Amino acid sequence: MVSAFGPPRPPLPVLPDDEVELRSRVGGLDLDRKVALLTGVSHSALAEEPRLGLRRIVVTDGPQGVRGQHGVGPGHSLLAPAPSALGATWDRELAERMGGLFAAEAHRKGVHVLLAPLVNLQRTPVAGRHFEYFAEDPLLTGELAAGLVRGLQARGVAACVKHFVANESETDRTRYLARLDEPTLREIYLNPFETTVLDGGAWTVMAAYSGLDDGVEAAPMTENSRMLRGVLKGDWEFTGVVISDWASTKSAVESANGGLDLVMPGPLGPWGPALAEAVRAGKVDESVIDDKVVRLLRLASRVGRLTDPWEPGTAPVAADPPPPAPSESEIALLRETAARGMVVLRNERDLVPLSPVAGRRIALIGHNAEATYFQGGGSAYVTPQRTVNFVDGLRAALPPDVELSVHRGGDARDHLPLLAVEDLATDPDGTGPGIRASFFDPSGRLLGSDLRAASDWAPHYGFPPGTSRVVLRSVLSLSEPGTHQLEIGAVGRYRVRVDGELRDHAEDDRGVELMLDSSVNHPTGPVIEIVVDGGTRRVELEAELSVIDAGGFGRLISARFRHLPPGPSRESEIAEAVLAAERAEIAVVVVGTNEESESEGWDRTTLDLPGHQNELVRRVAAANPRTVVVVNAGAPVLLPWATEVNTILWAWLPGQEAGHALADVLLGRAEATGRLPWTLPSRAEDSPVPHAIPVDGFVDYSEGLHVGHRGWDRADATPAYPFGHGLGWTTWTYERVHAPRTVAAGQDIDVRVLLANTGPRDGHEVVQVYLEAPVDDPTRPVRTLSGFTVVHCAAGTSVEATVSVPRRALQTWDAVLGTWRTTPGAHRLRIGRSSRDLLLTAQVEVLG
Ligand code: BGC
Repeated sequence: MVSAFGPPRPPLPVLPDDEVELRSRVGGLDLDRKVALLTGVSHSALAEEPRLGLRRIVVTDGPQGVRGQHGVGPGHSLLAPAPSALGATWDRELAERMGGLFAAEAHRKGVHVLLAPLVNLQRTPVAGRHFEYFAEDPLLTGELAAGLVRGLQARGVAACVKHFVANESETDRTRYLARLDEPTLREIYLNPFETTVLDGGAWTVMAAYSGLDDGVEAAPMTENSRMLRGVLKGDWEFTGVVISDWASTKSAVESANGGLDLVMPGPLGPWGPALAEAVRAGKVDESVIDDKVVRLLRLASRVGRLTDPWEPGTAPVAADPPPPAPSESEIALLRETAARGMVVLRNERDLVPLSPVAGRRIALIGHNAEATYFQGGGSAYVTPQRTVNFVDGLRAALPPDVELSVHRGGDARDHLPLLAVEDLATDPDGTGPGIRASFFDPSGRLLGSDLRAASDWAPHYGFPPGTSRVVLRSVLSLSEPGTHQLEIGAVGRYRVRVDGELRDHAEDDRGVELMLDSSVNHPTGPVIEIVVDGGTRRVELEAELSVIDAGGFGRLISARFRHLPPGPSRESEIAEAVLAAERAEIAVVVVGTNEESESEGWDRTTLDLPGHQNELVRRVAAANPRTVVVVNAGAPVLLPWATEVNTILWAWLPGQEAGHALADVLLGRAEATGRLPWTLPSRAEDSPVPHAIPVDGFVDYSEGLHVGHRGWDRADATPAYPFGHGLGWTTWTYERVHAPRTVAAGQDIDVRVLLANTGPRDGHEVVQVYLEAPVDDPTRPVRTLSGFTVVHCAAGTSVEATVSVPRRALQTWDAVLGTWRTTPGAHRLRIGRSSRDLLLTAQVEVLG
């Protein structure tokens, strides 16, 4: 398929990807320089080397957009739906088109390697990075990731598949060892990496923070030679670069010998001179170093960064012309993907699409309606070029005679809103609005100061050299009578004073560890109440912070100023929303998570919706039977009121075009074609893996092969909504299946399914094929997802879907022989609309 971004173009190597040529180049370089190339030169750039013709390579996150080399500050990015939303489309071709979009963004931002996709699995519903993963299922994950990689790399931008391997949770992620048996590792967790590397052809792979104990070797992933050299570079013949997760490398000798190729970020880190020394001492063979440099050059060649050598000190070649700005077709693709990923979980009486809406009253309710949660937190975060929230999207789409009223229905956050600095805070040393930062050296000498009209200094970089302490000061002028609440969050070593009184302090000296547990991005503090009872009250704020040395992440401080003025109580906001729902023909309630719940760096502690959102939904639904609930979350949340509302639409973290996409779906301009890429529990404790907190340093994958829907099926437990479920906006009958009667071991199976669109609209269907082994072995899954495809079919017509079941789906890992084995015998193919809605069956005899 040719995407909106033009036909795929080959990478732009000046030289062919030629082994002999690359090796001869490397031969001309001395050991110290070779080793120096194997650590980054900054957070996101690799070293250039004129003598090799190696130009600077820039790497950046991924996976909701392309951040660019200047962090989240300048250079706004297109913000795509979170990967779990793309996962819900089950659409390889759409994933490939998204890869094309990311490549276009990467070209605009001078980026050569995108740190995406993530192919870890949604093993537990509480995983902090759940929104960054595609699915709970290895097949679905691998297929979508491979599509995305193809779309990206066809345009000369490398993918970095991460986090290799078994890094499914965040708690204590730099220290735990995941403990798995080999069949589980091969069949479940390595499987999507295998697909992405072998079918997608990924050019780089990221070694995870965590470690792995597979019963033979227990080692951090940056040193795990069984996985890096044995599986990745050995079994799969991976010719690309293995990159460390940021600041995850703990050793020189073990990691270099273990198969890691590149330490990020730099310029510091455990390699450099220590690695060169280890080579001289005979602990690492120089050929090991040469192989890593060759891999780096091969990557450079693939992404168009290898040229003829040039004279050191001169510019390599003329700069590329600036690429065109984002096109309308790119924005349209973001909107299409967001709409396509939405999942209709329930839709009684076909209420959605809402039609006709003309002349009606719609009450739009919920904190996330206005404060839409567009993207998750952590390294995936990008500064979007624009965002359209649900209120604005609906407002823009509704005909003028529709009366749309908007009601928050109570605050859904645990923390206070950010302080309105422009309105309330002034420079203590001047008159303008802002918070003044003063920079001091260790002797207490003032090095400079800076005034910013910003409440969010999390994290803040950029001090005069030699700064060891930063003092943030401001004066608040509060005049609204009532009780104001104030929260100053800080991390590291700090003191917080309000009106000169010490209100919070800490002595946390962790450097890079602080950065990695994400508290740097989410500083919190105690809530302080300030009563204003007439006139204006001046409040002096001061946060004194020691500069944190976060290694490759730089030197930084982190603080956030929050303030809640007196206002209506939660109860009165809910009551107002309920009244509006009562008076309206339709109530749309947007519930969801927010940046306090979904992020890299931690796992969630609960599946409950934050705040009083459950109460809000129940009361609105009781007031209006035509209540549509939109769930704005990238990961599972419990819906205890699911049967009390008319319609439930899972809208994910939809990216910048959120509001337009929701309007498209609600008004019937686009079909919400999504199918759940994971199982939604009705009670948290029903999940096969309710949490993944390390015990004595281990995360035990003791459920083995029974992860996700496989675990639900084995336990014969009933979820709220099963894996694969989604109604779309039409109805289907599955009429016939055709599969070969026999297949030889090692062959793929093509299954043909005839289905009819029996509903009122043209629509998409995701045809799912599950495989059951000849004998039900309780140690193995009851059935596994073994193939799927998306078809489009006009109303009242039929379509034949062809689903390919790959040979790997018929194989199991034989731990004794250490090899794949095809199980002979009569397999049953169960075809249907979800893992629990299986409509047709075919039998295939697999020959031994
Ligand atoms: C994350 C990676 C990310 C890297 C660079 C790490 O903290 O785990 O996924 O690519 O930072 O930002």
